[in-house]
Amino acid sequence: MEKHVFLEMSNISMTFPGVKALDQVSLNIREGEVHALMGENGAGKSTLIKIISGVQQPDPGAKILLDGKEVEFPSVHASIQSGINAIHQDLSLFPNLTVAENIYLGRSKKGKIDWKECDNIALEALERLSVQMDIHELLGNLSVAKQQLVAIARAISLSSRLLIMDEPTAALSFSEVRMLYEIIRKLKKENIAILFISHKLDEVFEVSDRVTVLKDGKYVGCKNIEELDESMLVQMMVGRSVSYEALNQESHASEKILEVKNISREGNFKDISFSLHKGEILAFTGLVGAGRSETVKALFGLNPPDEGEIFIHGKKVELKKVSQAMRHKIAFIPEDRHQEGLILNMSMRDNITLPVLSELLDRLGFTNGKKTESLSEEYVKTLNIRPGQIEKMAKNFSGGNQQKIAVAKWLVTKPDILIIDEPTHGVDIASKTEIHKLLKSLAKQGMAIIMVSSEWQEVFALSDRVIVMRHGRIVHEDSTKTGDQNLMMEKAILGEGKA
Ligand SMILES: Nc1ncnc2c1ncn2[C@@H]1O[C@H](COP(=O)(O)OP(=O)(O)OP(=O)(O)O)[C@@H](O)[C@H]1O
Ligand SMILES: [Mg+2]
Repeated sequence: MEKHVFLEMSNISMTFPGVKALDQVSLNIREGEVHALMGENGAGKSTLIKIISGVQQPDPGAKILLDGKEVEFPSVHASIQSGINAIHQDLSLFPNLTVAENIYLGRSKKGKIDWKECDNIALEALERLSVQMDIHELLGNLSVAKQQLVAIARAISLSSRLLIMDEPTAALSFSEVRMLYEIIRKLKKENIAILFISHKLDEVFEVSDRVTVLKDGKYVGCKNIEELDESMLVQMMVGRSVSYEALNQESHASEKILEVKNISREGNFKDISFSLHKGEILAFTGLVGAGRSETVKALFGLNPPDEGEIFIHGKKVELKKVSQAMRHKIAFIPEDRHQEGLILNMSMRDNITLPVLSELLDRLGFTNGKKTESLSEEYVKTLNIRPGQIEKMAKNFSGGNQQKIAVAKWLVTKPDILIIDEPTHGVDIASKTEIHKLLKSLAKQGMAIIMVSSEWQEVFALSDRVIVMRHGRIVHEDSTKTGDQNLMMEKAILGEGKA
């Protein structure tokens, strides 16, 4: 029997200056169902869930029915009162507070915190997730994946009817994703509905009961998952079919550009040696937390090794500071682009041209408006950043489009060595193919690329060679063209070694 629809939203519109983010959208949620909200970057997904969770107010005319009664969600508090709580794309947690405080936040009565209750609520929420962690640890000391779990714990302790998650698996490793699926199944049994946003089709087919699709702020449709297959869903989202083509498999690797010899950093990575060639795409993979990001950051002066040597074009170099790395024409696009990659209060144009600003100054020291404009417009086109308004502030772009701005920002420097951490996290299926093509063509032109990726499909489609890390060490290295792909995946999960 179909479950009761307890939340019905219709005629939801949301206008921002110059953009109609939502245009008369509808959404309905059944008790205890898992409902996926899908659409391309900028389709309006995050905006819709901000409205349901009381973060933003829709344009007049919106109709929201809760158990058949008309309601409004004028504040986050009001929506929590109705049993609804959301985890947003940027998690909105506080790094300077403990795990327990983050879970408890906003519940204190009359400004007084009941510390006993705070600990109890945190312990109970983590227990429901079967997660063990020190509740008195500062949140900022935890990995992104653990922070995500804290956000979930907080949300389930507040949501009795509907838990909303905006791209919950983006930063999780394979096993953590499995754990999240388990959590979702558990909550479902407790008759709690889950609304989640994801760009990963396999995930949507695995866990959801129904899917609602948005496109350019408009409602496209809502379907039971059994009525759909992947290509139908892509068609609904993109309006055309997108094939995930395996890119030209020929390698363009030529002379050696980088050589890393036995670098180690206490607690991060141990005894790492590898080389990189011009025109090559080298993938670092392994589980989240295996030390991949820490290792590649070491090449950009962000996380300098305590031991070992690095050579560029055969000459020993110091990469202890970002400025040194930049002088050697190395660029780094971090995984957490939202926080590390962009200046959110600056326009897209200024973000993109910032790393090359000195080259764009005229003789009097003024920036050349025409040049910054044409340069940013070029990348807006190549990466299909939407909307293409170069004066719009970075913070006002959708999550996926912010990712693309961060990519553009470093590509303008035309580096010899490009390090990119999870190149397609959070970008939609059509843009993902575009970014892959772009990286492949940059390699063909001679750029040496190091990418960190947790997606095997991406590793195999894009890279020439793969390095598998586990516990801070390299456990396997092979060609992705000729090597045994099963062995690579096994090594990532089962390989030996400890930092
Ligand atoms: N505060 C804001 N000011 C101006 N425009 C905004 C603001 N917030 C969102 N937008 C615009 O609204 C549209 C929808 O954005 P939204 O964040 O809802 O997209 P999304 O579907 O979540 O995309 P993604 O998959 O990239 O996260 C985008 O065009 C975005 O640029
Ligand atoms: Mg979003």
